[in-house]
Amino acid sequence: MVYTDTDSESTAEFQSCNVNPSITGVGMTTFAKSDDRSLQELLRIASERALTGSEIDPKKVDSIHVGNMAAKAFNSRAGVANALASTVGTKGIAHRVENTSASGASAFLDGYDAVRSGRSETALVVGGEKMSAVDTETSTEVISRITHKQEYNQGITLPSFAGLAANRYLDKYNACRRDLAEVAVKNHANALANPYAHFNKQIHIDDVVASPVVASPLRLYDCCPVSDGAAAIILTANDKDGSIQVTACEGAIGTHAVADRSDLLRIESVRTAGKRAYTCAQISPSDIDLACIHDAFSILEWIELEELGFADSGKAWELTRKGRTDIGGDLPVNPGGGLKARGHPLGATGISQIIEIVWQLRGDLPDERTVTDPQCGLAVNVAGFGNNAICTILEAV
Ligand code: COA
Repeated sequence: MVYTDTDSESTAEFQSCNVNPSITGVGMTTFAKSDDRSLQELLRIASERALTGSEIDPKKVDSIHVGNMAAKAFNSRAGVANALASTVGTKGIAHRVENTSASGASAFLDGYDAVRSGRSETALVVGGEKMSAVDTETSTEVISRITHKQEYNQGITLPSFAGLAANRYLDKYNACRRDLAEVAVKNHANALANPYAHFNKQIHIDDVVASPVVASPLRLYDCCPVSDGAAAIILTANDKDGSIQVTACEGAIGTHAVADRSDLLRIESVRTAGKRAYTCAQISPSDIDLACIHDAFSILEWIELEELGFADSGKAWELTRKGRTDIGGDLPVNPGGGLKARGHPLGATGISQIIEIVWQLRGDLPDERTVTDPQCGLAVNVAGFGNNAICTILEAV
């Protein structure tokens, strides 16, 4: 296909590529409990930082893909993509992508497809959420409404699913409660040197096991916070020195009702998205040098590591206990702090995971925050309690 856009000032003509898109610019806002700026402002700031990083004129952007879960519920806003296109000054197409807590990675998948298909030569992918506009009770209610209606009607929330899964895991396997707490301790430690993180606070195992119960056995420090923030990426069909290649971005769905699954400790969407991504990138889990895992609740880090083939079922806790997932380990997991400590502004999260990998692969970070000689990173962003997942693989070229 040949795409010609005469109305905009974007590159006049280019061939359908089906090559791996490159990431040439990234930008984020600091994730925070409460940011004074509006959702629209957060999206604009992240977008402008990515555009500046990429040294690209906004008029050359062919498409904008905005990941956002609930602007209407949190901020009484709609039309966020149209407003952003006008503010940033682009003239191509723009739309909002919603896939609950994986809205960010779904927007990225959308931009990736646009570049691969030849529809866009340059795509701006940006995600954001401003959750602090409502109180915790309301945000819990908004998030709970993504669950299956019958489960919602029984009073199920996302933390309560995670609590049930943690209980089952600790009961079935040899991990102990303090091993699980170590996941949160590690991710908080990783966020200490990340200026974009929601928390810059060291915690210890004793703090985790003494923190208030949220959904037994999970406590406050096992949970991601409610955050505000935005993150943006420029994807292009043109390779540039120092750019990072997207070698796979694949999604998969799982059952909507968790009750329909044969095993609470399996997340089929993550497993399938991971397999599809490995096939597309022509690699295996042993080729991955770092992983950004959707640790909305500490137990999810273990379950997803198992589903992605980094450990056998019931064995991921051993990676944590042996320090293998630490920043200096052989499989660093969530080196930027993860959802647990970098924060989880729903629509921004999937994009912030990919940005962390870009920074690591480009060697942009200070030594104490850098994993050893990374060439290949994986990110997984999960919608709901595994209703849908997107797995992305990036490689340094
Ligand atoms: N981890 C660590 N500390 C946290 C925290 C978390 N997840 N959430 C809040 N805190 C801290 C706050 O910084 C604050 O500390 P301070 O008193 O020193 O300022 C204190 O705990 C109280 O904060 P508050 O905002 O009042 O907490 P809360 O009780 O209203 O909310 C949760 C806590 C865990 C219920 C809330 O963060 C939550 O709902 N998290 C899950 C969100 C979710 O489900 N996302 C979707 C997943 S896909």
